[in-house]
Amino acid sequence: MKAIILNNYGPAEELRFLDTITPRPSEEQVLIKIHATAVNHVDIGKAAGAFKNVFPLKFPWIPGYDVAGVIEGVGARVEGYKPGDEVYGASLDGGTYAEYIVLNPQVIALKPRTLDFTEAASVPVSAETAEQVLFRHAKVQKGQTILIHGGAGAVGTYAVQMARKAGLKVLVTASSADKTFLEGLGADTVIDYKGEPFESIVSKVDAVIDLVGGEQQQRSYQVIREGGILISVNQPVSAELAATFKIRAVFAQLEPSHEGLSRIAGLIDSGALTINMKAVYPLQQAAEAWNDLKGKQVTKGEKKNGRIVLRVQ
Ligand SMILES: NC(=O)c1ccc[n+]([C@@H]2O[C@H](COP(=O)([O-])OP(=O)(O)OC[C@H]3O[C@@H](n4cnc5c(N)ncnc54)[C@H](OP(=O)(O)O)[C@@H]3O)[C@@H](O)[C@H]2O)c1
Repeated sequence: MKAIILNNYGPAEELRFLDTITPRPSEEQVLIKIHATAVNHVDIGKAAGAFKNVFPLKFPWIPGYDVAGVIEGVGARVEGYKPGDEVYGASLDGGTYAEYIVLNPQVIALKPRTLDFTEAASVPVSAETAEQVLFRHAKVQKGQTILIHGGAGAVGTYAVQMARKAGLKVLVTASSADKTFLEGLGADTVIDYKGEPFESIVSKVDAVIDLVGGEQQQRSYQVIREGGILISVNQPVSAELAATFKIRAVFAQLEPSHEGLSRIAGLIDSGALTINMKAVYPLQQAAEAWNDLKGKQVTKGEKKNGRIVLRVQ
């Protein structure tokens, strides 16, 4: 099969489009013919060696976590899937910038029937991260107030919609250019992160969802009520600051699940959840797609935000 392969740590320019061995499913796995995958910040971070002390890569490495495609082979002990099923999901170990992947059925679900494969590939990591952060980690409840940093991004737009749907008051930090877009998704207040500091506007929220990190996270502890929670998905949290402000602080990582992906497919098909896709590149142009995400080149699409997808088939 063809795949995008990295042979050592490095930037987008190190990516190669090469032939490699097509994987074979074990008795517990399915073989998926990939139609589309998507680009996540973690792909670029891992390739650059940002996490090499914790998650060292084994080279040659195939990046990619999101997947949408068709089942071509089913292991003898797999139940619930058959060849021809259209599925989507998230690999735990990368490997989706390729024509085929083998996955455990627990990390896939039938794809939303109202989406094509490129649209479906934009969903799994971002939507399920948003869902788990809100409901598994922050355990938000109707009537609470939440602050979402980076609300206009791929994960943020799902978090805003899901929080609104759950009956929360939703405050968001984002660029001023995204204000109308975010209000349309259900945000009550959009705070320009380049304008007045959010901590002079926000206080005593029940939860902060930090999709940005850096000093924005450092400034967030003080705006959470006692007993509230800060969840970050991109950098470790400070136990010391959490204790100082009498809150809980958690670093969360996506755990892809069949149940979550099925629920999200249902929400999309019923019109309760809108996807946020920015541009589509052919798999061969993964390097251009990475540079697009990093803001190094003008995007192919008109849109400023959303997931960048790689079309494989
Ligand atoms: N732990 C996990 O399992 C997991 C899973 C998924 C994602 N993540 C992480 O979650 C983060 C967000 O991912 P994503 O895919 O949603 O990224 P994305 O699509 O690139 O969105 C990032 C958004 O943040 C905005 N932003 C940048 N600086 C900001 C600031 N200081 N204040 C408020 N907004 C700001 C950007 O707006 P402008 O473009 O206007 O600046 C953009 O809308 C990444 O760090 C990613 O690695 C972690």
